[in-house]
Amino acid sequence: MRVVSGIQTTGNLHLGNYLGAIKQWVAMQDQGECLFFLADLHALTGNVSPAELANSTVEMAATLMAAGIDDRAILFNQARVPAHAELCWILQGTARMGWLNRMTQWKDKAGKNREGASVGLFTYPVLQAADVLVYQATHVPVGEDQKQHLELARDIATKFNTDFETELFPLPDPLISKAAPRIMSLRDGQAKMSKSDPSDMSRINLIDDDDTIAQKLRKARTDPEPLPEKLDDLAERPEAKNLVTIYAALADRDPQGVLSEFAGQGFGAFKPALADLAVSVLGPIRDRLTQLLDDRAAVQANLAKGAGRAQALAEPTLKAAQKAVGL
Ligand code: ADP
Ligand code: NA
Repeated sequence: MRVVSGIQTTGNLHLGNYLGAIKQWVAMQDQGECLFFLADLHALTGNVSPAELANSTVEMAATLMAAGIDDRAILFNQARVPAHAELCWILQGTARMGWLNRMTQWKDKAGKNREGASVGLFTYPVLQAADVLVYQATHVPVGEDQKQHLELARDIATKFNTDFETELFPLPDPLISKAAPRIMSLRDGQAKMSKSDPSDMSRINLIDDDDTIAQKLRKARTDPEPLPEKLDDLAERPEAKNLVTIYAALADRDPQGVLSEFAGQGFGAFKPALADLAVSVLGPIRDRLTQLLDDRAAVQANLAKGAGRAQALAEPTLKAAQKAVGL
């Protein structure tokens, strides 16, 4: 199994990102050969400033390294492996306008202003196809919103294989991992925890110090009722349910098991236990992250090493694709 996954670069990562995404990637390293790339080329299709792009790439890489992405996986940024862009151009001869016109993400993101959208926003899914096909990936982790793009990658691979009478590209399958928990705001159990929430008390940032983590959990909105025996009984108590979900995800336990332990206790007892757990899991990640952010050259060096490993895997596929089309 060879897994390829692109990651949008973003700064100010929070507990929702960690439990909902990063932790899944860390676990994936033991399931197969993993290539994780920071999608800096994709970022150019939107409006990102050069400083923001450079900074968020290093921050995201540092966060992934701090959270446990290590040499079991190949971590790199897309721009440093030219084979992505080179194969993308070849595949632009294969992809059809009609296929791309049907992409719902293109329609959503371009909106009514298609004439003003960047060309890259339109051809973005072809680069995504190249991202995985260049490694002959067998599996791609995809959320609901990316299923259509993976279908497109399979269509492009099929047409390329047919047109050029080759079996170069295996058709990548979606990798459905264990459902990731959805973490909600600490101030409002109905909204998801997000970096765009104006209230910093709504989220735990991965860079928060121990006291801040504990304080935010202590001040999290809850209700005066004790915790029930059954998970179903939290259905109408979103804030309480969220804290139980966070506890379970941090402890790698199922929420029902957590309730069985704490049933009958109020938040006066549960919150300190949750704060201790959160600090014990997030503290070491934050300490490593802080160190890495102080030594950006080490992060860059790690990315360069990953790019070398990735390019070595991509090169034979790119050569074969060039040969197939007569280049
Ligand atoms: P944000 O909402 O803070 O802008 P992003 O949209 O950049 O977060 O999400 C990056 C990744 O983190 C995605 O894989 C997304 O599914 C995951 N993620 C973001 N927020 C949450 C959350 N509150 N709970 C679970 N997963 C989340
Ligand atoms: Na977002």
